[in-house]
Formats: sequence, C-alpha cells, structure tokens
Amino acid sequence: MARLQILEYPDPRLRTRAKPVEVFDAALSRQVEDMFETMYAAPGIGLAATQVDYHKRLIVMDVSEDKRQPQVFINPEILTAEGTGTGEEGCLSVPGIFDEVKRAARIRARAQDATGKVFETDLDGLAAVCLQHEMDHLEGKLFVDYLSDLKRERIRKKLDKDRKERASKAATASAARAY
Ligand code: NI
Repeated sequence: MARLQILEYPDPRLRTRAKPVEVFDAALSRQVEDMFETMYAAPGIGLAATQVDYHKRLIVMDVSEDKRQPQVFINPEILTAEGTGTGEEGCLSVPGIFDEVKRAARIRARAQDATGKVFETDLDGLAAVCLQHEMDHLEGKLFVDYLSDLKRERIRKKLDKDRKERASKAATASAARAY
C-alpha cells in the first residue's frame, strides 16, 4: 500500500469531473487500498478519488468511531433524498477550514463495491452528509462552493498563507541540517 498526495484547494485538478469505473481489476483494488491508507492517515472520514488526482468515480469512507467500518462506493448514484440538515463540514483538500453546509438528511444510494457488485444502502447522519460531500468531489465541486464569494476568497488566502508558512518552516529545517 502507498500513501497518496491529497490535492489542496484551489488546485485546478480538483475541478475535474470523474469518469465511470468500467474495469474492476487488481489495479482498482490497489487504488482502493491506497485511498483507505491515505484517508486513515490524514486522518479523514471520507476521500474521493478526485482528491488524489485519480479521475474515476470512486469514494472510500469510514464514519465509524472505531475506524473499522470501511465502505467503498464505486459509480455511486443517489436514488432518493429526504429532509434537510445543516452541519459543519471540513475537507482534506481544504485543511483547517470548517463551515456549515445544507444537505439532504437521509439518502438511498446505489453503488458498486470493489468487485463490481451492485448494492443499495440507506444512509443518514454523518454517513449521508459524507457521501454527498464526496459525490460533489467527483463532479469537481468543493464544499467551499456553497459559501459566499467573500468567505471563499478569505479561505483561499488563508490556505495560501498556511502553505507559505509550511514551506518556509521546511526551508529553515533543512538549512539547520545543512552543514
Ligand atoms: Ni472533501
């Protein structure tokens, strides 16, 4: 298994619309394993393939407390959606930012597992929110798109500043090791 690099907003590759998975082979299984490793290490509760620059309709999730309930959604579709709820969301591609987003409260979804087998599942609470958030990623959409232009601009600037700070810290660290 390998840890993958997670793209960060405003990387334009996050705007790519993912294509359906058509071949369920060993390479796909490896991609699923690598995405789980990346998600758990981050740590996160969900990861869409788009976020690791793999533009196929593939999502991994684990919203359980003990992190032992991995779920894979390949070529997911929402069959029915009911109610609305607003919760605070975050995203591994928008690190350190959390804001309120309105989503359907309960959904019925159909997807395929890593072997291609079709299944249907009813989701509510965090799982329903998470799947909707991840499915947006597959369309090239981010949760910050639901916020105001002003907020989004502030977030972009903050992330840019954070990245520059990280880079200068890394430069200082490597200079300290250079004799
Ligand atoms: Ni996300």
